Amino acid sequence: MGDLHCTRASEGAFQPLFGKVGESADVLVLCGDLTDYGTPEEARVLARELGATKIPKVAVLGNHDFESGASAEVARILADAAGVIVLDGTAVEVLGVGFAGVKGFAGGFGERALQSWGEEPIKAFVRAALDEALKLETALARLRTPGRVALLHYAPIGETVGGEPTEIFPFLGSSRLEEPLDRYRVNAVFHGHAHRGSPEGRTKGNAPVYNVAMPVLAAAFPDQPPFRVIEVPVGEPVHA
Ligand SMILES: [Fe+2]
Ligand SMILES: [Fe+2]
Repeated sequence: MGDLHCTRASEGAFQPLFGKVGESADVLVLCGDLTDYGTPEEARVLARELGATKIPKVAVLGNHDFESGASAEVARILADAAGVIVLDGTAVEVLGVGFAGVKGFAGGFGERALQSWGEEPIKAFVRAALDEALKLETALARLRTPGRVALLHYAPIGETVGGEPTEIFPFLGSSRLEEPLDRYRVNAVFHGHAHRGSPEGRTKGNAPVYNVAMPVLAAAFPDQPPFRVIEVPVGEPVHA
């Protein structure tokens, strides 16, 4: 799940949901925008809410978690107070499944993606997206498990932002993230950020991509609580 946008007023609001996740899944994956303004106070509220389930928790931060300039503290609070493994170009193996995580960045999709050309601020913007793609590749390269899951905040393909106003597509993700996902043949990709996007798509290499932003899941599956449960193969690490 993603885009919880936890605020100071969220005390008690997420506990029943996390309790249900714990009954349905072995690992909780959180795809960024965990807090609304990225304040330590919001992170402390979320950490207490996450106490409702004891299953392992793996997360990436989203753009909202950076808003107050305290992203490192937000990550530390979630790690120390709730045991969340916060990934940022890093990877972890949990219960025999590999997880690689990165926030990602914007820039658009396919042939119409922003190119590194012209003014320095444009080049810096594109560089930020390229850096995130490189971090994703580095994280995926570390995994030796047969089952591999990638978690992002920004979308790696245009398909799962479909439903959003087309004017903002370039701000919702970057297809520069797609190539590493296919090269390392991930079993599943989760992202958020596009609150009005579509719940499912595929990379060019046919990896399933799930937009798990809570508003997307609430709209697409109104009869279910806003999280997806996906099965991935479990096994011993493969040593190349
Ligand atoms: Fe969000
Ligand atoms: Fe976001």
